[in-house]
Amino acid sequence: MCGIACYVGPRDAAPIVLDGLRRLEYRGYDSAGIVTFDGAAHALKRAGKLAVLRDAAERHPLPGARALGHTRWATHGPPTDGNAHPHATEDGRLALVHNGIVENHAALRAELEAAGHTFVSDTDSETVVHLIEQLDDGDLHAAVRAATDRLNGAWALVVAHAERPEIVVARRTSPLVIGLGDGEQFVASDVAALLPHTRRVVYLRDGETAVLREDGVTVYDEAGAPTDLREEAIPWEADAAEKNGWPHYMLKEIFEQPTVVRSVLQDALTPDGGVDLGLRVDLADVDRVVVVAAGTAAYAGRLGAAWIERFARIPAHVEIASEFRYRDPVVGPRTLVVAVSQSGETIDTLEAVREAGRAGAHRAAFVNVRGSSIAREVEDVSPLCAGPEIGVASTKAYLAMATRFLLLALQMGRARGVLDDDAVASWTADLRALPARLEEALARRDAVREAVAAFDGARSVLYLGRGTNVASAYEGALKLKEISYLHAEAYPTGEMKHGPIALIDATVPVVALAPDGPLHAKTLSNLAEVRARDGRILALASDGDEAIAAHADRVLWTPRVPDALSPLVLAVPMQLLAYETAVRLGRDVDQPRNLAKSVTVE
Ligand code: F6R
Repeated sequence: MCGIACYVGPRDAAPIVLDGLRRLEYRGYDSAGIVTFDGAAHALKRAGKLAVLRDAAERHPLPGARALGHTRWATHGPPTDGNAHPHATEDGRLALVHNGIVENHAALRAELEAAGHTFVSDTDSETVVHLIEQLDDGDLHAAVRAATDRLNGAWALVVAHAERPEIVVARRTSPLVIGLGDGEQFVASDVAALLPHTRRVVYLRDGETAVLREDGVTVYDEAGAPTDLREEAIPWEADAAEKNGWPHYMLKEIFEQPTVVRSVLQDALTPDGGVDLGLRVDLADVDRVVVVAAGTAAYAGRLGAAWIERFARIPAHVEIASEFRYRDPVVGPRTLVVAVSQSGETIDTLEAVREAGRAGAHRAAFVNVRGSSIAREVEDVSPLCAGPEIGVASTKAYLAMATRFLLLALQMGRARGVLDDDAVASWTADLRALPARLEEALARRDAVREAVAAFDGARSVLYLGRGTNVASAYEGALKLKEISYLHAEAYPTGEMKHGPIALIDATVPVVALAPDGPLHAKTLSNLAEVRARDGRILALASDGDEAIAAHADRVLWTPRVPDALSPLVLAVPMQLLAYETAVRLGRDVDQPRNLAKSVTVE
């Protein structure tokens, strides 16, 4: 979704802010803009990719050591130059960038127009700059506070005036992080924009405001009193968010997965082969687990629910976060609600967590971004340890989520006495071998590249899986459709004969997840039904599976692992299938159309 990158300090601000916006491109956007100040204001806004704005910036001087930059993902009004941020007053001297949605913008706009303000865009955000102008009697911070008192909705606001030395920021729901420099300050919607300059950050909380000047930052609490800075260090290396020679972030992140799993295990395994996720909740006392998440995180949650039922023998299910919050869910004090989110900012998941809190559940979160809104909302945080994920299609975060769920299931199983120490130690030994198995799976990329020819001319692709791997099938289909734009659908293999089998013909290739395990023979029977109807099958099978060849047109071999771990290994060829298909079709792999990395609107 929208991105914010701003600077105040002694340096030429435009290159810093434009580079910050480049680092936020992955969030998804359709227009971009910048304003710089050197006593006067210099603004430039363009629909389309950042390259268009950069080209224009080469022809228009943008002088000044203070700048606000923004990438916009259109909500109110189409992606045009005029609707791009920053929005400014008629004289251009007061300007702001805004993420979020002002829900009462129509009423405010009518009021401000009646008071003589002229609007030039369709956006809700423009309302705010006119409102601040109306309330400004020389103290910009006071005017911003007074204006936000009148807003309903969500905002991350950054405001500046040509004649004042500071930048004023305000936050409700939409994320904002301040970067503390030496004689210079930064503010951005996410740390990726700050990494080249500083790893000292302050995550602004809901209702807080801050004033940034070259020589320092003051944060104010909801009541307007100055408050502690709460400085934190970002644990990521400065180049962790760079492509480092890879053609796409997605491919880099797929190949980082063995390292990610090693980090997760290092964080969670105890020297005696046990598991400790560091949660404060008494796992022996939990009588039900509900996972709330969206998209890929929800599919990781489906795996988690299956593992928790298997290893801890308590009911567990996953709920789509955007549904959970509106259906008056039945949860209580012994329900553990696990929110899963790479960004930690997905608004549907955040609101689901709040709903669970109102209902009295204990809330834990698996999040990748420390200091994110979801991390701050819950009682227990278990970090994903995946490092920054920039590709819009989630890959390494999915594997980190899934691995963490398997560890949670083992820890719960032990806490409840379903598993003994030996059983846990045996599973954790298998997990320690997983990174090597993932490396083997990654080394087979060429076979995947050849296999994607099977999708040429396809009308749709059907993904089938059984047991835990139903969730894997859903995730595989999501990955393919979001970056290749090929239609894909997932089904439990045994359910196919109850309807979707009508789709089967030579133009609907079937990706069949058929790893070794208790449901293997059943899967083969289902595949025979597909073959009998002229279906084309690409099977993902375990090394050494002699039976599969008779049931598939092509086989992608995967390293053999204990059956509970098969979703973790199958994830690799499925991610590569989506990636290679998207590349073959010439798609924008890292920034697929219409998608945003962090979905901060409902
Ligand atoms: C798919 C994808 C999305 C996200 C979803 C939740 O590849 O990335 O489906 O998984 O938007 O995002 P987070 O995990 O940030 O809450």
